[in-house]
Order: sequence, then C-alpha cells, then structure tokens
Amino acid sequence: MRSLLGLTALLASARAVLAGSLPSKIYGVNIGGWLVLEPWMLPAEWDSMGGSICDDCSTCIQSEWAYTKEYGQVKANQEFAQHWTTWFTQDDVNTLVADGINTARIPLGYWIVEPLVSRATEFYPEGGIVYLQKGVQMLADAGIQVILDHHALPGVQTPGQSFTGNCTDNVQFYTDYNYERALTWTAVMTSLVHLDPAFSSVFAIEAVNEPIMDADKTPNYGIFQKNFVDTVRAVELTLGIPVEGISLGAQVTTSNFTEALGQVANASTTLNAEVREALAAAAPILVDLAAQLAVPALLDTNLGGGVDKTSLITTFMDINWQYDSPPNPADAAIGPQGYDNHLYYSYGGVADANPTAYLESICNLQRVQVDAEVGNTPLWFGEWGLPTQFEATDEFLSMWADAQKLAYSQGQGWIFWNFKVEQSEVAGNLSRQWSYIEGVNLGYLTKNPADYHNASVCEQYVTSS
Ligand SMILES: *[C@@H]1O[C@H](CO)[C@@H](O)[C@H](O)[C@H]1NC(C)=O
Ligand SMILES: *[C@@H]1O[C@H](CO)[C@@H](O)[C@H](O)[C@H]1NC(C)=O
Ligand SMILES: *[C@@H]1O[C@H](CO)[C@@H](O)[C@H](O)[C@H]1NC(C)=O
Ligand SMILES: *[C@@H]1O[C@H](CO)[C@@H](O)[C@H](O)[C@H]1NC(C)=O
Ligand SMILES: *[C@@H]1O[C@H](CO)[C@@H](O)[C@H](O)[C@H]1NC(C)=O
Repeated sequence: MRSLLGLTALLASARAVLAGSLPSKIYGVNIGGWLVLEPWMLPAEWDSMGGSICDDCSTCIQSEWAYTKEYGQVKANQEFAQHWTTWFTQDDVNTLVADGINTARIPLGYWIVEPLVSRATEFYPEGGIVYLQKGVQMLADAGIQVILDHHALPGVQTPGQSFTGNCTDNVQFYTDYNYERALTWTAVMTSLVHLDPAFSSVFAIEAVNEPIMDADKTPNYGIFQKNFVDTVRAVELTLGIPVEGISLGAQVTTSNFTEALGQVANASTTLNAEVREALAAAAPILVDLAAQLAVPALLDTNLGGGVDKTSLITTFMDINWQYDSPPNPADAAIGPQGYDNHLYYSYGGVADANPTAYLESICNLQRVQVDAEVGNTPLWFGEWGLPTQFEATDEFLSMWADAQKLAYSQGQGWIFWNFKVEQSEVAGNLSRQWSYIEGVNLGYLTKNPADYHNASVCEQYVTSS
C-alpha cells in the first residue's frame, strides 16, 4: 500500500514537471468576491450599492442576477465597474507577494463571456472581462500563478447560493443547452490563456465549481467532463500544442486563429458535435475580444507575443465531492489534469463543534489517499478557511491553521478562501477567520506559508497510522 501510494505521488510529480508550471506546492488564495460578487463577504459595500442580505437569498437582492434585474444594465455596469476596480488591487497583490503566496484561484461567472448571456431572461453586469485581463496581468507581473475557475455556471449549478450568480432553486446547468454554453466559455478562456500574454500565468482551468453533491441530480455530468477536456485540447491542437490521446482530424491552413477554429469545427473527423459546436461558437466571440482586449494574436498567431505552448491543466472537483455513483473525472483526462477538494468545518457535518474534535478530524484526514486510489492525483484543497462553529481562541486558530496546512500539504497544497473580506462595522469579526491577509496580520497564519507555528501540532491527535 505504502509503496503504491509512493509510486502514485512520483507519477503525479512527473506529470507536474511535464506541465511545466504547476507549483511544486500550492500556497494559494482565492480572489473571491471579485468577478463573482458574494454579498456576505462585503456587507457594507453591498448595502451602499443598493443590495440587501436576507435569510433566504432568493427573496432579496442578494446576487448579481437579482441586482441587475432590479437596477438595470446601466447602473449595474457602473456599480460593478467600481467594485471590480477597488476590491482587488495592486496593493493586494503586493501584500500577497510579501506573504509568499504563489497561486491565485479566480472565481468567474459564465457571464464574463458576454455573448453567452440571454439578456431577455438573464441579468448580469457587463464589462468584467477587461478587469480579469488587468488582474491576471498584475498576478503575472508578481509571479503568482493562476487557476481560472468556472465558479458560476450557465443555468446555475447548485440551488440557493449567491456564488452561482443567481440564488434560486431553478437549477438548469445539467442540460444540453447549458453544457454547450459552458463548453463555449471553455474554448474562449483557453484561447485567451494561450494567445493573450496577460494570461501567461494561468496554468489551470477548472470546469465546474461545486456541482450538486448528489450525482443523481447531475445527469450527463460525466459526458460533460469529457467534452470539457476535449474542448481545451481541441483549442490547443488548433494552436499546435499536441497532447497524447487526441487528434484534431482536420487541416489548419491559416494563421488567423479564429478562422482556424471555424475550419476545425467544420472539418474535424475526430471531435464530436458538442466540441465542434463550441469551437464554432467561440470563433466570433474571440473576433470581438481581439479588439476589445487588444489581442492581435487571436487574428494572427504570428503577432502579439505568439502562442504560449504549455498545455493547460484541466481541473475538476474530485470524484469524492459527489456521491451516488458519480463519474470519475480521471476517466476524462487527456494530458495534465488536477483535482480540487473543498473543506469547511463551520457548516457542520464534518466534526463535533469543539476544538479537540476539529483537530482529531483534520489530523486524520484521508482525502488525499482515498482520491489517489481512484486516480484523482494531484489533489489540492481549493477552498478552506479558519471559520468554526464555536468561539475560537487565538491560540486555537494558530493550531487550526497549522493542522489544516499540514493535512492539505499531503497533497499538492492549498488555496485559502478568501484573500480578504470586508473590514467594516457591519462585517464585525468576519475577517478574523475568513481573510488570509488578516490571518497573517493577526498571526494565525505564518508569514511564510510553508512554515508552521508547530509542525508537531497533530502528534497528539493522530489516532491511526
Ligand atoms: C434566477 O432566479 C430567479 C429567482 O430569483 C428565477 O426565477 C430564475 O429562473 C433564475 N434563473 C435561472 C437561469 O436559474
Ligand atoms: C480572421 O478571421 C475572422 C473570421 O473568423 C475574420 O472575421 C477576421 O476578419 C479575420 N482577421 C484577419 C486579420 O484576417
Ligand atoms: C464552415 O462552414 C460554413 C457552412 O458551410 C461556411 O459558411 C464557413 O465559411 C466555413 N468556415 C470555415 C472557416 O471554413
Ligand atoms: C471579535 O473577536 C475578538 C477577539 O477574539 C473578541 O474579543 C470579540 O468579542 C469579537 N467580537 C464579536 C462582535 O464577536
Ligand atoms: C507542538 O504540538 C505538540 C503536539 O500537540 C505539543 O506536544 C507541543 O508542546 C507543541 N509545541 C509547542 C512549542 O507548542
């Protein structure tokens, strides 16, 4: 058993070297609350924008959808532009660099690719893509690697959550129409990553943040996983970035990339109809983005910095995120792939609500090993934090941070939720347990993320070997 797991880890690190840019250990933060605004993270600002917060988020203005529907496109565009400018800044990036952060996961909505939105029935602010381009450029300049995370899917991937963009029970993501829109989003983002130098620090693209856990309620999600990978690789093959296991099945006879996508969509004898349709739909969107974002390489791959030739790491929530016979995302892999698991204790259901139970639980966590047995390696913990169901002492929070970092570092590493939250009277102590930057300021998180206050913190809590 031990040597098998060792071999898996070795293979995983070999793949990481091939991928080129996967950090050998991820010390990361989420850039949450930015391009997908979650009101609970910035209650005073949301209130000043005209939003509200209520017990059932579907009944008040507590999502981007509800806000834009209420106030209309013009005001939404203005207010969100202000938010995008101020929530994540160069100062924040400088702080993250000083704190040793090497990875940023950026949650994104499908609506950042604006032609995908059916404006008659779907309501979202416009203009975010320009801020994304500025943000990834800041991160690239700082040497911080980026995961583009499709966090809020067309049609909504899980009920009752502002983080899907629309707090609603009307979940429609798991349908052909919305899967197809998500594939088009994927083709657009993959193209930008390879052809816009601002996106050069992006090493991974995540298909779906937190799908419904009950796989009975996510029909055809396994087919979507395969189409997601095929779409990323089809774009890359069109750019002359080969991976073993898939071929284009078409000749590309032009350096105009958007035209090449059309050729492949028309002529490919190997790609399926869903993937070809996504390429065809992405082409005109990219023609517009070439102008809007000033990316000449989209129209001529010999221009503007050319093609970044490193294969993206396709990323999924791990198989054990779901239950009821879920599809295994490892079955979809072609080329480098990574897996994401999220762990929060504060919502209940993980451990009893006391410090000892928390430490006993985290110090015996087996998720990395259990995932490795079904090929879900490398695994990182793309969301976690310090929140608790009880009032935590300063001393406990230092132990709690150490113990979680130790557990997650058995895999590829960790990405804290969130890089920051609002500090205001109404937000109260929110930042104490939810903000990485504040956690470092308060001393719970070590200044060097690879360090621990006490690397032996788990010794007395480990119950088995
Ligand atoms: C968005 O939420 C509203 C309720 O607030 C619901 O009527 C609508 O169907 C939802 N839209 C989608 C695409 O889920
Ligand atoms: C590239 O091809 C697209 C069609 O996909 C076309 O709209 C555009 O004008 C072409 N650009 C150049 C510079 O040839
Ligand atoms: C793809 O096929 C359509 C329909 O036959 C045609 O109009 C279009 O010009 C073709 N596009 C390319 C890039 O070959
Ligand atoms: C905020 O945290 C501090 C330090 O633990 C504590 O003394 C204070 O009571 C907390 N305030 C609120 C409003 O919970
Ligand atoms: C570190 O943690 C271990 C195990 O919980 C404990 O025995 C030890 O006293 C701690 N060391 C320090 C310096 O706090």
